Amino acid sequence: MPDRDGPWEAAFLPYGKQEIADADIKAVVEALCSGWLTTGPRVSEFEKAFVAHCGAAEGVAVNSGTAALHCAMRALNIQPGDEVIVPAITFAASANAALYEGATPVFVDVEVDTLLIDPVSVAMKITPKTKAIVAVDYAGQPADYDALRELVRGRGISIVADACHAPGATYKGRSAGTLGDISCFSFHPVKHLTTCEGGMAVTKDAGMAAHMRRFRNHGIDSDHRSREASGAHAYDMTELGFNYRLPDVQCALGMAQLTRLSGWVAARQRIAALYDETLASLAEVTPLTTRADRTNAHHLYVVKLADHVDRDRAFARLRAEGIGANVHYAPVYLHSHYRKLGYRPGIAPVAEAAAKKILTLPMFPAMTANDVERVASALQGATA
Ligand SMILES: Cc1ncc(COP(=O)(O)O)c(C=O)c1O
Repeated sequence: MPDRDGPWEAAFLPYGKQEIADADIKAVVEALCSGWLTTGPRVSEFEKAFVAHCGAAEGVAVNSGTAALHCAMRALNIQPGDEVIVPAITFAASANAALYEGATPVFVDVEVDTLLIDPVSVAMKITPKTKAIVAVDYAGQPADYDALRELVRGRGISIVADACHAPGATYKGRSAGTLGDISCFSFHPVKHLTTCEGGMAVTKDAGMAAHMRRFRNHGIDSDHRSREASGAHAYDMTELGFNYRLPDVQCALGMAQLTRLSGWVAARQRIAALYDETLASLAEVTPLTTRADRTNAHHLYVVKLADHVDRDRAFARLRAEGIGANVHYAPVYLHSHYRKLGYRPGIAPVAEAAAKKILTLPMFPAMTANDVERVASALQGATA
């Protein structure tokens, strides 16, 4: 059997890494042999199991976190001319979903010590055109949802939780998946649990869930399985949707992985605590803060380097030593596509300054205390 742990060299410590167990392979093989490769029973089984894990009501499985965000925009009726507030520091997909629906992403700044969407900056950017806020649970820590709720109260503005980094995280005792009007997850291989590619939009609103189920299936009001059950052949396409379906084979993998999610989150939290302890003596390195009212699912372990340290040089030195450091993220609006749309530097000064100083260190459940030591000592050399 080929090395299922990944294509990298043993000496290279990647920034993220999935775990595929025998139980995952068995579940996938069973699905392959079940007669249902897609739109079968495993889709709703996975949806139910995932939302039960989050304490949420409805899940709509789709083939990426990006698709989940797009479904959310459609279900919230985001239209051309609407404004959608998005933090500057996130993956491009958080903002692209608004563009897909012809809306305008409005970028806001982030808090200096967490890099989470800053409610003060949000308050300054809300206009009569604002229809939604995409709150990104950056690195695995939920945004300040109570502060955001306060800002949108009575204004017809929805909150989409981009919880792609945060399955298993909590905010004031409430789980990721229950914090936004719609919460979106990604099951890409570097995330907590994987379906190879995949995602889920989670909500307590049955009407929005039904809308997203149609939207992921071309905007058609039934699917292959429901028509087989009812014996009907006719269907209606009620709006222009997409093919965002997540196959049964991938849902089988997701279900098998889900049984290990809590253990993985706990392992990530242990590794983060080890990093915190080990890096405390490095004056040039400051880990991001986790607020006392939240638990952090630690998708990423991000540190800020001191002003006098050249981040790109430190990055190159770490890579040369086999440490898969990374950078998450440059402000979205600095990408060429956004510049073509007219966005310019200066929109989010805290994010722009932080983006030059952040480094993502390796973080995945199988990391050992020795791996953490190795990263810390390489980082000490790289920032000296
Ligand atoms: C914050 C955030 N939002 C959305 C996405 C999109 O997820 P996917 O890659 O599954 O489309 C990602 C993926 O990296 C992400 O990190």
